[in-house]
Amino acid sequence: MAPDARPPVAFLKGVTKTYGEGAAKVHALRGVDLTVREGEFVAIMGPSGSGKSTLLHILGCMDVPSEGDVEIDGVAVPRQSDSERTRLRSERIGFVFQSFHLLRDLTVRENLELPQVYLRRKEGKRLPTPEELIARVRLPAALLDRHPTQISGGEAQRVAIARALANSPSLLLGDEPTGNLDTTNSDAVMRIFDHLSKEGATIVLVTHNPEVAEHAQRVVRVGDGRIVREERKGPSEPERPASTTGGAA
Ligand SMILES: Nc1ncnc2c1ncn2[C@@H]1O[C@H](COP(=O)(O)OP(=O)(O)O)[C@@H](O)[C@H]1O
Ligand SMILES: [Mg+2]
Repeated sequence: MAPDARPPVAFLKGVTKTYGEGAAKVHALRGVDLTVREGEFVAIMGPSGSGKSTLLHILGCMDVPSEGDVEIDGVAVPRQSDSERTRLRSERIGFVFQSFHLLRDLTVRENLELPQVYLRRKEGKRLPTPEELIARVRLPAALLDRHPTQISGGEAQRVAIARALANSPSLLLGDEPTGNLDTTNSDAVMRIFDHLSKEGATIVLVTHNPEVAEHAQRVVRVGDGRIVREERKGPSEPERPASTTGGAA
């Protein structure tokens, strides 16, 4: 299927975000239109303070716009109800943070099981096991019984990616996912995103690093709360059979 014919996973129209009041008012986003289609790998770049994290948090249903529309998988993200938005997020979004955000008192296995507690109760459908999740980020199952303090930063971020895959998300998001890693670990993490992208995952990463953005098929440049430029790289069709576009599952 041609990239433009694939269904949108995220659709943003006229999105603005302001923080604060009066003289302290900050316009973090000043009117963003953005469509991310199934199977796309997008990098968001731009200077510090330009609104990248705000945009990613809105894509991830962690925050709501001041104005404008947001749809994830064709579902309008509710602005009033926090619980509905939290549910949409827990069912459809995977989020990877710069500083991993693993719970250090839990084992890797327990960290991977955590996002599923709510989901398993809710849907009763089979979700990936910790063994399956750790294999998807190409780490050995022996790591499951360690604690986050007993693994390297690169391994911790791969565990965090595995955790983000626990709900088989429609959209996998990362805010500077390699920002705390050295080159070797950063490369290992980016190979995982590449691999997930080839499997059909829809990915949006915020990054300062042009080498990270190189992995994406599309680079969206943000400046002062607006999208100022977009670049698409060929070949536009990723190398995978058309029948395996079913998201990150
Ligand atoms: N919770 C907040 N309260 C007030 N201002 C904020 C908040 N979050 C972000 N901002 C401001 O919004 C602007 C955009 O921030 P952000 O989206 O974090 O940019 P980036 O990720 O590109 O560095 C900045 O001026 C920032 O200071
Ligand atoms: Mg940021």
